[in-house]
Amino acid sequence: MGVKLQTLTDPKKRAMLLSALYIAQEQFGWLSPEALERVAGRLGLSIGQVRSTASFYTMFRLEPKGRYHVQVCEGLSCYLAGGAEPIVDHLVRRLGIRPGETTKDGTFSLEIVQCLAACDLSPGMKINDELYGCLKLETIDALLDDLTQRAVER
Ligand code: FES
Repeated sequence: MGVKLQTLTDPKKRAMLLSALYIAQEQFGWLSPEALERVAGRLGLSIGQVRSTASFYTMFRLEPKGRYHVQVCEGLSCYLAGGAEPIVDHLVRRLGIRPGETTKDGTFSLEIVQCLAACDLSPGMKINDELYGCLKLETIDALLDDLTQRAVER
């Protein structure tokens, strides 16, 4: 028996839900089951509706991630612009983690996603809410150096 998706058809409620999920994620760093329940309770929605929506969007994290959550796109446009593979390989070497993992110090986590809705900037990746396009390995190195430095200064 499959899981039935509980979709939310009211556009106003959906907009409120997306905002509430975004705020909860900002506050806690990820959307724990407790956070989803709290959002559902506040908006008068079922936990299924809230979880379905949260799991649909790549911007929401349903598991704890690193302080800097790196999402590399492997969608078609990015594939045609060189693909995620060289970028992911570089990040794996540089960070010492595989996709789906978080560095031991909790600074970085890595994930492969389908499309970041920035196909004109392919190949692209996101780090938390920031989008980076037309990526080159040198750009990635500079970004990681900067974020690593910020994590140390914190
Ligand atoms: S396919 Fe990569 S951003 Fe759309």
